[in-house]
Amino acid sequence: MKATDKPYIILSAAMTIDGKIASKEGDTDISDDKDWREVHKLRTKVDAIMVGKNTILADNPKLHIKFYSHSGYYRIVVDSNLVTPIDSNVITYQLDLYPTIICTTENVPIDKIREYEAKNVKIITSGRKEHVDINALLLKLHQMGIKSILLEGGGNLNWSFIKENLVDEIRLTIAPWIIGGQNAISLVEGDGFSQMKNAPRYHLSKVKTRNNYVKLKFLKLT
Ligand SMILES: NC(=O)c1ccc[n+]([C@@H]2O[C@H](COP(=O)([O-])OP(=O)(O)OC[C@H]3O[C@@H](n4cnc5c(N)ncnc54)[C@H](OP(=O)(O)O)[C@@H]3O)[C@@H](O)[C@H]2O)c1
Repeated sequence: MKATDKPYIILSAAMTIDGKIASKEGDTDISDDKDWREVHKLRTKVDAIMVGKNTILADNPKLHIKFYSHSGYYRIVVDSNLVTPIDSNVITYQLDLYPTIICTTENVPIDKIREYEAKNVKIITSGRKEHVDINALLLKLHQMGIKSILLEGGGNLNWSFIKENLVDEIRLTIAPWIIGGQNAISLVEGDGFSQMKNAPRYHLSKVKTRNNYVKLKFLKLT
């Protein structure tokens, strides 16, 4: 896939000093108000926001914009077996402004797909394997006119993008806690790379400090 065939991907997250994006019990109260405003500002600049299924199950986010006027964007959920609760906020909250796309696999029965379509959710299937085929999915989303995506986690979906070297830009907020915990989700989960030389490398393009928070912007080294 050529870089121009896929949407521009911005990975965005708030994490603790030790790189966790949630506590072992799923507490994600990491950002402060100022940080949320900046995240919402970033949301105004993209065509879509994407999260993994577990983030929907854990947080039931609206993935909306509170602080700015804007014309909306797609909300995209990556969910191989179509288990996103039908009453979750991404399905019930302001579909007219934030149309929702759920990306699933070709293994899902058509009756189940129809149930979501009846709620005006667009279903895209990608691949027949256990998990959604991300490369094929990005081609389809690009063909639909989605040129930029804010990837808002969690750690397992982030890994699928990092593994395939699909992340163009990273916006990180480092918050002043160390939470620890082997079972607390990190910014990037998955198998990981064995050697630094095989991992995608980024160029630090901006650093901003505010109280005890640090905001970092990285761009992919080409
Ligand atoms: N602090 C922050 O900025 C922030 C942001 C977002 C999330 N979070 C936290 O992160 C936690 C969730 O993270 P998580 O890592 O458990 O889950 P996740 O990344 O939100 O979702 C992962 C799930 O997505 C599905 N998926 C489908 N195709 C996939 C593919 N190709 N690659 C990867 N996943 C695929 C998989 O389930 P199926 O294959 O079964 O569908 C997988 O288990 C929550 O606690 C949430 O609160 C924090």
